[in-house]
Amino acid sequence: MVQFSQSAQAMRSSEIRRLMQLAADPSIISFAGGMPANSLFPIETLDEIWGGLSREEKQVAMQYGPTTGFPALIDSLKTYLRSKGLPVDDQGLIITTGAQQAINLLSKVMLDPGDVVVTENPSFIGALAAFLSYLARIESAPLDNDGIVISQLEKVLDAHASKIKILYLNPCFQNPAGIIYSVERKKALLDLLAGRNLCLLEDDPYSELYFNETDRRLTVPLKAMGKEPVPFCYAGSFAKIFGPGLRLGWLLGPKDIIDKCELAKQSMDACSSTFTQVIANDYLRRKGKLPGYLQSVRTAYARRAGAMLDALETHMPDKVTWTRPKGGFYIWVTMPEAIDATKVFNEAIKKRAAFVIGSAFDPGGTKNNCFRLAFSHTAEGSIAEGVKIIADAISCFL
Ligand SMILES: Cc1ncc(COP(=O)(O)O)c(C=O)c1O
Repeated sequence: MVQFSQSAQAMRSSEIRRLMQLAADPSIISFAGGMPANSLFPIETLDEIWGGLSREEKQVAMQYGPTTGFPALIDSLKTYLRSKGLPVDDQGLIITTGAQQAINLLSKVMLDPGDVVVTENPSFIGALAAFLSYLARIESAPLDNDGIVISQLEKVLDAHASKIKILYLNPCFQNPAGIIYSVERKKALLDLLAGRNLCLLEDDPYSELYFNETDRRLTVPLKAMGKEPVPFCYAGSFAKIFGPGLRLGWLLGPKDIIDKCELAKQSMDACSSTFTQVIANDYLRRKGKLPGYLQSVRTAYARRAGAMLDALETHMPDKVTWTRPKGGFYIWVTMPEAIDATKVFNEAIKKRAAFVIGSAFDPGGTKNNCFRLAFSHTAEGSIAEGVKIIADAISCFL
């Protein structure tokens, strides 16, 4: 018999993996994948960038690079992060293989078995998986429309104070709930953190994807608010501003933490792909490319979100509620307590529509009267049909 490690045994999955495999069938209208739309990737820009590189630059792109990242990309990324108001000059910065690796690296350098990570509930499945793989215990506090509920978070922080290592938050267009923290909630959070002994991990892959310019002020990261009552680490990604296929993200944080992450990364993959870092660097440096691209995808995702909200309004039975995102990829749907999203999924999939069940995002793995719809990857013309199938599936259980 193979003896798997405790870490491997702590990994969750089977039911969710089964459902995701079903949802991968191309004949299904799937709202399951939290992915950008293929048709929106800036392929022409990619061709231009690669075609414009010299032979020597292409040779560099094929080579190993420093563990912290391709130096020219570190420089261009710093300029980009400064433009978002983030403190960069007295901080460490490491390029990672996606934001997922940033979460994993911080977990690796911070967590011993039995340590506590506090998360939002619901929370990003990939982060939960990373924390569990280091045998952490996860405690959580619920979200409302303005962010994590401060009174509940305070209780959790007080109850587990000596064991908490990381507070993991995704304040901007949260995955899976789709909500954004209000300015007041962020201020209350900063006040609550004063004097605590933990590290904040702010995960921020979606903040560029606001639908209305007026909401841009809400997208300011906690790390850009000028006050760090505890060490703040800030994870970001090229996945939603260029393409997840690059597998590039970053972690910005106190130098001593980032130095440890560099050591940890050496034993994971030595460096992230130089090939894609060379492309990403050129992309950031081309005047107007990133802003122009972001403008076009904001409009496209806003339309898809609008189509989904309209369809929910038209088709969902009474007693079903949902969030109204101001950006990002997701809508979170809540059904009456007694309805089980797995049963609804099994019914919806027969008619060829799919989503991700709520228990996947519950740190306890149980609460399942809710589910996540991603509007980002589905053509606008198919959204209403898919929502109607899911609404009809819910009606079977009312
Ligand atoms: C909140 C959140 N964090 C991190 C990630 C992972 O991003 P990446 O593709 O850069 O690894 C995702 C991907 O969907 C996400 O939604």
